[in-house]
Amino acid sequence: MTQRKSFGSDNHAGVHPAVLQAIVDANAGDAVAYGADERTGHATAALREVFGADEAFLVMNGSGANVLGLSLLLRRHEAVICAETAHINTDECGSAERLTGTKLLAVPSPDGKITPDLIAERLSGRGDDHRSQPGVVAVTQSTEHGTCYTLAELRKITDFCHASDLRVFLDGARLANAAASLDCSLAELAECADVLSFGGTKNGAMGAEALIVMSPGLAADVPYLRKQQTQLTSKMRFVAAQFAALLHDDLWRANAAHANAMARRLADGAVAVDGVDVVYPVQANAVFARLHPRHIAALQREGFFHTWDERDSVVRWMTAFDTTEADVDAFLATVRATASG
Ligand SMILES: Cc1ncc(COP(=O)(O)O)c(C=O)c1O
Repeated sequence: MTQRKSFGSDNHAGVHPAVLQAIVDANAGDAVAYGADERTGHATAALREVFGADEAFLVMNGSGANVLGLSLLLRRHEAVICAETAHINTDECGSAERLTGTKLLAVPSPDGKITPDLIAERLSGRGDDHRSQPGVVAVTQSTEHGTCYTLAELRKITDFCHASDLRVFLDGARLANAAASLDCSLAELAECADVLSFGGTKNGAMGAEALIVMSPGLAADVPYLRKQQTQLTSKMRFVAAQFAALLHDDLWRANAAHANAMARRLADGAVAVDGVDVVYPVQANAVFARLHPRHIAALQREGFFHTWDERDSVVRWMTAFDTTEADVDAFLATVRATASG
């Protein structure tokens, strides 16, 4: 059964044909398990090269990459400063806190971004053994609000953090969208972090994420932590095949640039509809729009998407590598048709 295009999430999209083909190709014959196979070796070497990284490790999902990355960077008594809106704070069922034992120190962030000033506000209890001691700052790029930190903004955060004895973790579930939006390399973004995740799943993979370790001296613990945290998959070759396909000829960038362009088209069309406001800059593949609650209800009868903020009547629409202009235009026609409903 095929369904019409959903604007509910980039996770609703299927798998890019080249990725699916790579999985099929990887299916021939046997391969040594748990990442000791040739494909995994090649994929992780390619990731190291693209990112200029010390090491790269494959994992199965974004939440797992976040927990693994944070666990590498945290000492046992340390806390993580992050935006209130960070996925680790809002949508991972407290896994960072439960699995690493850390405390998240969330700061309000009007557009999904945090700044050195906001981080500094959370450093007041330093040296007081009654207080959680911040050790890591987590940033998300692109952010949960579909905005992107500029490279200058990211570098400011990193400089501030390193000068303040804080390490930087970057949640890159949608790093590809940010690189496409900023027209920069993955390595330029990665330079701003000690450890980061790189998402394949929202970029056309079936299920493939990577943990990228930038700072030397951290990677040795990853294999053990990854296993303890149940992120070491036995048939690793299929995760590797997905990254090989995404990295080949920069398919990741084409997928992300396309998704971003579709979000732009959607936002431009949506603001032309009476009663619809776009509430954050559209810099990646998400559009956050404010609509009358009656309008939201009418639209949601036509297809699923998330109401992001019920009180403020804000919804989230997302595009993906396979969203077409016709999909966007059809959705916009429905937005217009339901506007008075
Ligand atoms: C910013 C961000 N980080 C991490 C994740 C977690 O990914 P997963 O659902 O694969 O665990 C998501 C998923 O939506 C996300 O949006």
